[in-house]
Parts: sequence; structure tokens; C-alpha cells
Amino acid sequence: MTKCFSVTCLEVIATMRDLRKKHQLVEAAGDTYGKTLTLLSLDVCSDDSVRKCIDSVKDHHIDILINNAGVGLLGPVESISMDEMKRVFETNFFGTVRMIKEVMPDMKRRQSGHIIVMSSVMGLQGVVFNDVYTASKFAIEGFCESMAVQLLKFNVKLSLIEPGPVHTEFETKMMEEVAKMEYPGADADTVRYFKDVYIQSSIDIFEALGQTPEDIAKCTKKVIESSRPRFRNLTNSLYTPIVAMKYADETGGLSVHTFYNLLFNFGSLMHITMSILKCLTCSCLRRRTISPD
Ligand SMILES: NC(=O)c1ccc[n+]([C@@H]2O[C@H](COP(=O)([O-])OP(=O)(O)OC[C@H]3O[C@@H](n4cnc5c(N)ncnc54)[C@H](OP(=O)(O)O)[C@@H]3O)[C@@H](O)[C@H]2O)c1
Repeated sequence: MTKCFSVTCLEVIATMRDLRKKHQLVEAAGDTYGKTLTLLSLDVCSDDSVRKCIDSVKDHHIDILINNAGVGLLGPVESISMDEMKRVFETNFFGTVRMIKEVMPDMKRRQSGHIIVMSSVMGLQGVVFNDVYTASKFAIEGFCESMAVQLLKFNVKLSLIEPGPVHTEFETKMMEEVAKMEYPGADADTVRYFKDVYIQSSIDIFEALGQTPEDIAKCTKKVIESSRPRFRNLTNSLYTPIVAMKYADETGGLSVHTFYNLLFNFGSLMHITMSILKCLTCSCLRRRTISPD
């Protein structure tokens, strides 16, 4: 994402918790590093760190804030400690809120600015065994949906980017954690459904539908460059039928039963299901997403 923006004439401030990990980013940035790209240290879970980071920006002047930091959490809820759940909310929800709170007052004063929040398809649709992660993304969607109305009055834009699966370290880190976890507290059937049914389907879904980080960066760039940016931006048109299904039945039954059948009854037909999903994605639904191309 940083690379995608620093080659335009925008001045980019990239942030990371541990600046010792900067080498990959610096290499990707090429000669923009030190010119249009600077690096600052930031931990979105720390009030102090957020304040120090924003205070070091000249006049606090930030035109575009991109909230990308996020952590995942997978597994049966019975085996996840409350502290682990709070860690997810501390990053995905409070981390984003902390950043917006720090940057928004100056944007409101200047009557200009654009806040981008990296949400997820899982901010719109619950996904089995992603209960807590999904809840954190629903929480940030609710926060942003409420904030967007007030911000409009101050000419400040707010946009959610809602990717489906993306091939990043996120996926690798979660799969590594799943492999080493034993899931104490969860019964044998639940662990079996999780490891043998859900994880297998999830691997299929990532393979069939996964986008690249570059795709997401391009979609984000499009949203930023748009004269009238949309509030919600699904990046993967294959997910529009899922979202449409949710809103087609206000009782919620259609979504719950469809996902149940997809996972437990047609799990072995997942590849075919993926093809059906692709067919369902007609051009009218595609128009509802932001495409990287
Ligand atoms: N990958 C997917 O399939 C997918 C799908 C939909 C949405 N998303 C969302 O996309 C965003 C980016 O995820 P990704 O896929 O690029 O995963 P990633 O490769 O794991 O990147 C997440 C980044 O967040 C940073 N981070 C975590 N906690 C932080 C904190 N307290 N303060 C500052 N930075 C922190 C991590 O830094 P460290 O290196 O220091 O840990 C890491 O650079 C997340 O919000 C995620 O929820 C991902």
C-alpha cells in the first residue's frame, strides 16, 4: 500500500510498531524513501504512541488517514481466553477509534480530509469460527456508519474497504497458530468441525477467491482518488451475492442456513460452490464493488 501511494506525488507517512522491521518496506519503496515517504513508529494500542506519532506531523496536518492495522483470531470460542479476545478488540476496534479520535479534530477544523478504514467482508457477514474477529469488524463498521453522518457535515469523508480473503502474512500467521493450538475447553466434535471441515474449506476459499495486497492497495487508491468516494467498498465481486443474501432476508435465516449447508452438507463440493458463486456474480453485482483494475 505504501509503495502504491509513495510513487504518486502524495507525501506518505508509513507507520509500524517496530522500525527494525523496516527493510522490506524501504526496499519496496525504492528512491521514494526519504523523499515522498517517511517512516514513524506507531502502536495503535497505546495512547502515548498514537499521540507522539501524530504530534510529530507538521501542524497535525493529515489529509488522508488509512487505518490498516489489524489482527485475526480463529477457533472455537470455548478455547479462547477473554484476554485474547480483548487483544483483538484493542487493535481492530479501539486502535482504529484511537487513531480517528486523534486525527479527526484537525480534519473537522479544516473542513477537509478522508478517513479510510480497512474493514472486511467479515464486517458485514458473520463467519463461523471467526466469531471474535468478525465481532471486532462489525463493531468498527457500526462506529464508522455512525461517524460518517456527522463527518459529512464537516466535509470530512469516511470510507470502509471490505476485502474478502487476501494473501498476506495474516493468513500465514493464523494457519500457523491453528496448527500449534490444542483448543482446550472445546469438545472433540467442535475441534473436528473446526480443523477438518472449516480449515479445509477456508484453504479452498483462499485459493479460489484470494486477492493480492496489491489489488487491495489499488482499490484503496481508487477510493482516495474518487471525487465522490463510496462509504462501503467491497473489493471482491464474488462476495456481493453473500451480502445481497443477507439483506434479502431480514430474519437472518437465509444466511445462517445457507452457510450451514455450504459448510456441513456441501463441504466436499466446495470447489463447485466456488464456481457457482462466480456465475452468480453478474455484472450488475460487480458494479457494486470497487475493482483493482
Ligand atoms: N488478509 C486478509 O485476508 C484480510 C481480509 C480482510 C481484511 N483484512 C484486514 O486488512 C488489514 C491488514 O491485514 P493484512 O492482511 O495485511 O495482515 P498482516 O500482514 O498481518 O498486517 C497487519 C499489520 O497490522 C500491524 N499491527 C498489528 N497490531 C498493531 C498495532 N497494535 N499497532 C500498529 N500496527 C499493528 C502488523 O504489524 P506487526 O508486523 O508489528 O505485527 C501488520 O503490519 C487488517 O485490518 C485486516 O483485518 C485482511
